[in-house]
Amino acid sequence: MSIDTTRRAESVGEPLDRVDGRLKVTGAATYAAEYPLHDVAHAVLITSSIAKGRVRRIETAAAERVPGILAILTPQNAPRLPGVQAGNTGARGPAARGAASMRVPTILQNDEVHYNGQPIGLIVADTLDHALAAHDVIRVDYAAEHPVLDMDTAPRNPPESVHPLGGARTFRLGDVDAGLGAAEVKVDHTYTTPLENHNPMEVHNTLAAWEGDRLTLYESTQGIFSVRNTVARQFGIAPENVRVIAHFTGGGFGSKGGAWSHETLAAMAAKRVGRPVKLMLTRRQMFGPTGGRPRTVQHVTLGAKRDGTLTAIRHYSTSNTSTLEDWIEPALSQTRMLYASPNIETQYDVVRINVGSPTFMRAPGESTGTFALESAMDELAYALGMDPIQLRLANYAEVDPENNHPWSSKSLRECYRVGAEKFGWGRRNMAPRTMRDGRWLVGYGLATATYPARTAPASTTARLLPDGRAVIVAGTQEIGCGTYTVMSQIAADALGVPPDRVTFELGETTMPETPASTGSVTAASTGSAVYQAANALKQKVVSMGLRPGESYESFIKRSGGQPIEVTISARPGPEQQQYSMHSFGAVFTEVRVDPDLALVRIPRIVTAHAVGKVLNLKTATSQIQGGVIWGIGMALLEETQIDPNNGRYLNADLAEYKVPVNADVGTIDVHFIDEHDPHVNAIGVKGAGEIGITGVAASIANAVYHATGKRVRDLPIRIEKIL
Ligand code: MOS
Repeated sequence: MSIDTTRRAESVGEPLDRVDGRLKVTGAATYAAEYPLHDVAHAVLITSSIAKGRVRRIETAAAERVPGILAILTPQNAPRLPGVQAGNTGARGPAARGAASMRVPTILQNDEVHYNGQPIGLIVADTLDHALAAHDVIRVDYAAEHPVLDMDTAPRNPPESVHPLGGARTFRLGDVDAGLGAAEVKVDHTYTTPLENHNPMEVHNTLAAWEGDRLTLYESTQGIFSVRNTVARQFGIAPENVRVIAHFTGGGFGSKGGAWSHETLAAMAAKRVGRPVKLMLTRRQMFGPTGGRPRTVQHVTLGAKRDGTLTAIRHYSTSNTSTLEDWIEPALSQTRMLYASPNIETQYDVVRINVGSPTFMRAPGESTGTFALESAMDELAYALGMDPIQLRLANYAEVDPENNHPWSSKSLRECYRVGAEKFGWGRRNMAPRTMRDGRWLVGYGLATATYPARTAPASTTARLLPDGRAVIVAGTQEIGCGTYTVMSQIAADALGVPPDRVTFELGETTMPETPASTGSVTAASTGSAVYQAANALKQKVVSMGLRPGESYESFIKRSGGQPIEVTISARPGPEQQQYSMHSFGAVFTEVRVDPDLALVRIPRIVTAHAVGKVLNLKTATSQIQGGVIWGIGMALLEETQIDPNNGRYLNADLAEYKVPVNADVGTIDVHFIDEHDPHVNAIGVKGAGEIGITGVAASIANAVYHATGKRVRDLPIRIEKIL
């Protein structure tokens, strides 16, 4: 076969099937807990049944008599880890809380209990059954204290720090009080969103094995390098001595962005018993020990002239965190950049309560923040008697209001136009409760979607094999988004070969380093590195004497038969500082509401997004559909409930924690705007992983208002809130 190395791109953009699809549906894809190591011992967590206090003593005598018990780790007997400083162990008092970007694990370094369900011990046995049998007879003696559990009555504080995702604690542009004074129409409301938990299909699993002072972790993670770095620091060993492997991760959505406690506990146990240890969390243990979305209370005030021009936006957000670390739900980012108001003010506060530490959860901030802002914009549209799209167009930001930077690209107008046309927005009567289908009330709602387009440094190796096939290697993760597939497509086009001539390898920390699969950065960042590495490889082969029209296979054969390889590191360019980079979209929802029973049904959602270049129409569409389904859950179903007395997670399973099932999801009609972004990165990709959920809850709430005349500002929208 002759290969035209100068041919134009053909694979990128195509709806190629997932290259790992067959492995997944046949069960041949190997997940963390499935690696067939020899002589594996099994661990189960002991978790606290109080929400605050101390572990006085863990009575282990009965458990130790269970056959096959190898070790029981407790705060009393667990090894003290050299890389865990006093300030990083959850020692009480403000000075000890972790910075926003520093996870504070609970790894048996002290006897403190900060939430109900916190890991306080670990049982290791020859079989899982033996470990569970021992767990049944463990008795824990606590010195219990009264937990703080009610966010609405607990003290509100300024956060000690805000994660870079969230920006400054306080942002001020212009003078909001003056802007509100000049307003002819105002809306002023509080919107709330509940605690949520991620619930990926694969729970968090770790398989830990030591060889001397070298540790291997098979791990279900979105970030192999972040897990490596954290665990190496804790054990006081060099990062090169920790190898993290994750060839497939069964969903993460932010909960697997870095290490929690279980990785370290499994490694500790493996060292203690001198065997590999497998620790699989239960579904219940996904509520608390591995993060979740905090509750938010968001106060939005908008002022506008009669023509719809905004004079002021004020948006305050208070979210809960744990008593271990200050995690702020970055719910205010979109408010600083979405609309061209001369006066904008945002501010975060935090309430520390006895729950597990919250963390990133799909579009952390923009999902909750757009619920508040885009609901308020709908309320303003009604206060003005103005079409909600017209109101948004009247305040279209031509540059980023936060910093006056130009956009690297922005196609939001086209998103509104295309979405409205595909949806049939023109058929809408503005007045609530005026559209019906038989006895059902019909509502149309709209909201804007937005998410930052981030690119991070990434490295990649590209190698040509003697048979002319290419192997592309990067230490990234496949968390279900299609990474194996789109990276193969990018490399295939750059090399000028069909994608089935390319194998993409990922998921080991011995590979070239790339960012964690968080913040929708992977396609943009690792994709840029793959593109540059494949191009560099092609250039190298050309410079070595590849003849026009000659296949790689024939060239390698006549030039020594050895593989040819390059490794490159891609860095984001200076454009990152010169432009504001964001994806945008518009979400249109039709709801049907039963006027007597207040049942809400969502027969269809139409989206139009501009995400830069779409690498694979099928996987990108799936990303948006998945995000929209999460948004349906956020709007109508999801809420983690905590016992107000003892802090126990009440609905910590998939029977009681409600997520959308097929019957809850109607048609999701996804459209992409053809968008060329010359600034964002080498491949023009903005990322489509998280924007799909943004705006969805507001779009649904706005449609429910249109159908019923009931404005629900407190998610999820349950029957009793609209009856
Ligand atoms: Mo995403 S919430 O940054 O994994």
